[in-house]
Amino acid sequence: MTRVLGPDQVAEAVSILRAGGLVAFPTETVYGLGADASNDDAIARVYEAKGRPTGHPLIVHLADAKQLSVWSVTTDERVSRLAQEFWPGPLTLIVPRSNRVSLLATGGRETVGLRVPNHDLTRSLLDQFGGGVVGPSANRFGHVSPTTAAHVLADLDGRIDAVLDGGPAEVGIESTIVEIVGDGPVVLLRPGAIAVDQLERVLGEVLSDGRSGDSRAAGMLTSHYAPASPVRVIESLVDLDRGAKTALIIGRDSELADMDGWHQENVIWTEQLPADAAGFARGLYAALRTGDSHNPSEILVLPPTSGAMLDAVLDRLAKASAIG
Ligand code: TXA
Ligand code: MG
Repeated sequence: MTRVLGPDQVAEAVSILRAGGLVAFPTETVYGLGADASNDDAIARVYEAKGRPTGHPLIVHLADAKQLSVWSVTTDERVSRLAQEFWPGPLTLIVPRSNRVSLLATGGRETVGLRVPNHDLTRSLLDQFGGGVVGPSANRFGHVSPTTAAHVLADLDGRIDAVLDGGPAEVGIESTIVEIVGDGPVVLLRPGAIAVDQLERVLGEVLSDGRSGDSRAAGMLTSHYAPASPVRVIESLVDLDRGAKTALIIGRDSELADMDGWHQENVIWTEQLPADAAGFARGLYAALRTGDSHNPSEILVLPPTSGAMLDAVLDRLAKASAIG
């Protein structure tokens, strides 16, 4: 059984981490699966609990930006500028690792992903723990990331020691990831709530898009972030299939009124999410999980068309709908 810890039980979560145990923790993006980043046995348990291949590197979560120099040997001024501007927040920086970082955490890479999450409970957890905490999203490998403690339990109950319940995640999808290694441009590996133009404004330079070509962040080309039922992104309700038992997620205003009779018969579940991409992102993963629980022949998604997080939302939908 996995224990559910409340806001007044942070000290117990710290003890579990110190003993090499696994504690899922809330962040503003999604819940992470935490373990002591300085304990290889604990890190190995994270891969095991998730069913994640060990070549997929883990993000190390830190209490504050001052810890950067402990976990990375970078001297790149762009790194400190981004950390200062966006931490705590939904931005992960991939930088050259220091000796403090285990190669087990980085999947053998010489770089490490670092992030200071913006969630009061977890900041106090990291503060009291004192060290780094590895934290992949707290779901089974390839599945939808959890945005509540209940989602964590649905995937990992009995496989981890505890989950610290910090309520539903504010942002709802994973952090923006950029890589800053060497003298080249800053490379975007995963879009998120921190938008490219915000990063470019602070850096005074243009980002390079690392999403095409070889996939350095997991799940870029193959199916990932996916429920069990196939997901299909549609452009309008006209694209609904006759006969399919459909779960429908709508990210626009007033589309439901346009559904005619046979459409309604085949739609076994519908959720209308906010038309703005940020509001849609906040509800998306919970909607995918609930839609999935109805065992539809497919989950159709009519995405939002505007908002600063549109790029990030479309990225996650593309991954959720990728085959294989
Ligand atoms: O919002 C988030 O980033 C959440 C919360 C818990 O912080 N974490 C998260 O972790 O999404 P995960 O492991 O599910 O996704 C991290 C991504 C993976 O695709 C991984 O391959 C990539 O970051 N990554 C981590 N370290 C890397 C490295 N050194 N080089 C390239 N990619 C890296
Ligand atoms: Mg993940």
